Amino acid sequence: MSGYKNFAVVGAGTLGKFIIDELLKEKAAGKIDKVVVLTRSVNGNDALAEKGAKPIVVDYASSTSLQSALHGIDVVISTISGLAIAVQEPLSDAAKAVGVKLFVPSEYAGDTINRTEEGPVFGPKNELRKHLEQIGLPWAVFFTGPFSDWILYQPFLGFDIGNGKVEVSGTGDGVVSWTSRIDIARYVVYATTVLPPSKLHNRVFKIEGERTSMNKVLAEYQVRTGKKVEITYLPLEEVEAKAKAGDIKSILQLVFELYGEYGTEEEMNVDWPDFNPETVVDAILSYKA
Ligand SMILES: NC(=O)c1ccc[n+]([C@@H]2O[C@H](COP(=O)([O-])OP(=O)(O)OC[C@H]3O[C@@H](n4cnc5c(N)ncnc54)[C@H](OP(=O)(O)O)[C@@H]3O)[C@@H](O)[C@H]2O)c1
Repeated sequence: MSGYKNFAVVGAGTLGKFIIDELLKEKAAGKIDKVVVLTRSVNGNDALAEKGAKPIVVDYASSTSLQSALHGIDVVISTISGLAIAVQEPLSDAAKAVGVKLFVPSEYAGDTINRTEEGPVFGPKNELRKHLEQIGLPWAVFFTGPFSDWILYQPFLGFDIGNGKVEVSGTGDGVVSWTSRIDIARYVVYATTVLPPSKLHNRVFKIEGERTSMNKVLAEYQVRTGKKVEITYLPLEEVEAKAKAGDIKSILQLVFELYGEYGTEEEMNVDWPDFNPETVVDAILSYKA
């Protein structure tokens, strides 16, 4: 067992809510003691408090506020918005100052260690990990691929499966590792509560719900639901040109055609043989807005 009993989740958003729910199951089972949630405003967090989490309002610009919130915490799991990842550096300094033992940076995407400058930016650069090593605060990072239960419901990325319309870059045959939010949450909580520090600290965890292509997912979805999906194939050169110019939708679209893998199948889910994740189509069908 990790021996860690007190957890702080930073940001109860798209992914964080799922991790909090998994941690609260462990708390209800008596396996961990405390789940606090760092937030900028207490508004909208009543449901979390009712479920047994403790929302704490913080000012990310104040080290006193951050240290006070993290007092007594063993593990910080950051699921902060990609728009705010810069606050993780002062946050980690505050964590170190009050004796936090492990920091999980907000990544949950592709390979942020071996990524090349030519490839799309799917996940932040490695700088926070370097900072954590400099200050001597152990880290654990989770590569997950796209959220299988969420991403196809994002029209701003060209994915609108709820209305039967999906844009695909290139052929649609690119192989991608996908993982649903509930499975990411299950794995993160398993790793941080069950694994001993020797298997947890300064580790990259490559996790994968299913390895498959966009074409296969859309074909299976149509067979299983009987619903037609209108698929628009975008020429790869056009998407690449837009991605190079910084267009977020194109950057993420390219992942599905060219950069969907972050290791071999043998490298995935290695720490938890009984993981048993859901398939992509099962995850799509479980989506709740
Ligand atoms: N692989 C994928 O398909 C995928 C998809 C989405 C996200 N991600 C990654 O997963 C991680 C978590 O993303 P997410 O979508 O779960 O985050 P999110 O819902 O956008 O944001 C999480 C929380 O961050 C807090 N926050 C603090 N400062 C903020 C600021 N300046 N602007 C906005 N929010 C702020 C907010 O909580 P309060 O308002 O309570 O402070 C918010 O609820 C990120 O690293 C992201 O890149 C991956």
